Amino acid sequence: MSAVRSQREVIRGMLADLKMPGSLEAVDTILSDIDGGRLAATEAINRLLSAQVNLRNNRRLQAAMRSSRLPSVKTLESFDFSFQPSIKREQIESLHELGFVDRKENIVLLGPPGVGKTHLAISLAIAAAQRGRRVYYGTLVDLITSLEQAQAAGRLTQRLAVLTHPSLLVVDEIGYLPITHTGAVLFFQLMSRRYEKASTVLTSNKDFEQWGEVLGDDVMAAALIDRVLHHCHLVNIRGNSYRMREHTALHQTLLQSGDPESVVTARRTRRSKATPH
Ligand SMILES: Nc1ncnc2c1ncn2[C@@H]1O[C@H](COP(=O)(O)OP(=O)(O)OP(=O)(O)O)[C@@H](O)[C@H]1O
Ligand SMILES: [Mg+2]
Repeated sequence: MSAVRSQREVIRGMLADLKMPGSLEAVDTILSDIDGGRLAATEAINRLLSAQVNLRNNRRLQAAMRSSRLPSVKTLESFDFSFQPSIKREQIESLHELGFVDRKENIVLLGPPGVGKTHLAISLAIAAAQRGRRVYYGTLVDLITSLEQAQAAGRLTQRLAVLTHPSLLVVDEIGYLPITHTGAVLFFQLMSRRYEKASTVLTSNKDFEQWGEVLGDDVMAAALIDRVLHHCHLVNIRGNSYRMREHTALHQTLLQSGDPESVVTARRTRRSKATPH
């Protein structure tokens, strides 16, 4: 019995020495499960190592959430594919394996509001961060503002270098807000630097034909699209807004109750419950 205990202590000592706190925390339960005949050797090793990998991935994610400016945590697991049949599940799952980051390819997510463009862009960035890749998130307007500020402060070269460095840059919301011609030129410079050097995930509610209007310059938009699309996975989402799903379900429930007026009342009640006074 004491020999068993000392073996345990040796294992615990080695896990501590190797700086594997995830495995260290899990090891007692795993060994008890083995002793109780509830766990086979392969599964036991798998569990021991998974505990450490999970802990490391969570730590990486927490660090990335601080440095990458990701606005929220969205994952592939929480994405409901049945709601968005125009999306090819296999394509999205295979993109989450991140070969595109190694090959320095881009992804463009196109579609109307609420269809999951930002969700998938973030979940790709999170998957990359968990694998130890440097990621950065910004809306087009945020990124341009930061470049304009850097230019005004005489630090444009440094800022462009900082934004060229991440293995994965998310450029969200191309097309919602107007940008200046200077802003468009700065964005073009950024994308030219990243071309074939690092991956970018871009999202837009506008088809490519309208990007000239968005950037205020057809020729530059064509040159930008040419670079972006050269090594690119295009995800064209055609469907309903997930944001409206809740409202639609609520609306239908209340309509079935036969009192359309109660829709408004119910919304007000829900809102006042959600907003503390
Ligand atoms: N298929 C889905 N499964 C689960 N949640 C989803 C799905 N699609 C969207 N959502 C959720 O709905 C909300 C809106 O989605 P998202 O922000 O990704 O839309 P979007 O396409 O970026 O819209 P916009 O163009 O307005 O920015 C988010 O909270 C997102 O997590
Ligand atoms: Mg969005």
